Amino acid sequence: MDITEKALKAYSNIENQRLKAIVSLLIKHLHACIKEMKPTDQEFEFAWDFMERMAAKTGPERNEFLLLADVIGVSQLIETLNHDKPGQPVGFALVGPFLRADAPFRERGAADMSDDTPGARVRISGRVFDFETNTPIEDAILDTWQAATDGLYENQEEAQPDYNLRGRYRSDKNGTFELIGLMPTAYPVPTDGPVGELLRAAKRPPDRPAHIHFIVSAPGYETLITQVFVKGDPQIEDDVVFTGSDNMVGDFRKDGDHFRLVYDFPLRRGVSTMPKAPIPA
Ligand code: BEZ
Ligand code: FE
Repeated sequence: MDITEKALKAYSNIENQRLKAIVSLLIKHLHACIKEMKPTDQEFEFAWDFMERMAAKTGPERNEFLLLADVIGVSQLIETLNHDKPGQPVGFALVGPFLRADAPFRERGAADMSDDTPGARVRISGRVFDFETNTPIEDAILDTWQAATDGLYENQEEAQPDYNLRGRYRSDKNGTFELIGLMPTAYPVPTDGPVGELLRAAKRPPDRPAHIHFIVSAPGYETLITQVFVKGDPQIEDDVVFTGSDNMVGDFRKDGDHFRLVYDFPLRRGVSTMPKAPIPA
């Protein structure tokens, strides 16, 4: 019996059928990969050392393993397989490493940042509604977060107030919402760990195109995790985490010294779930 068959047999007693299927698939495909790759002893040592260094960069505020999944396209692939349907008007996006739990609820129309946060403001309004019936969804929660113009999220930078550029808003009885955010700008993903090494080896620019994150949820509806990119931004094509796409672009229009964005969130009936926030409260 070859090692692959022995390994598959060794894990065949797992009672949980889903776990058994996952472990079997992992053994089957990893063994096939190794048989094709034929890593040297030194390459294997490099691999487990790389993982050790990823673990050293991982803690309550940062997960290098999640970042690796993001930059090799795995996170966006999972999101797409689980949620995208043909004709989906607003696309689903990976959560990414910067969602923080328990963002403060803010008043309709309020800014989600301190007055002294640099950058142009964008007034965002729109409607949350049932995708099938077009009826408004009242009391939907819109959880939004974005980076400052220097490319850093509030948790990465002492100078920003707690929960700066993060907030939760509610839709009204007509399904409408309004908030003030920051005109988004491009920023690089963290590159000071092993994932940065990989990006440099691949000569991949570490940048994410300008975007604002939204999670839109309501009881009885499938939670929409998405991002809004800037229409016409050529960087969307080169998103380091493969998220930018045509069904996630907003028409940000200049209006005096600020911008305006009208953006709607259609929800499909389904189970309302919330993703685990990589950053605790
Ligand atoms: C983000 O947009 O917050 C992000 C997503 C994936 C990796 C790094 C950052
Ligand atoms: Fe982001």
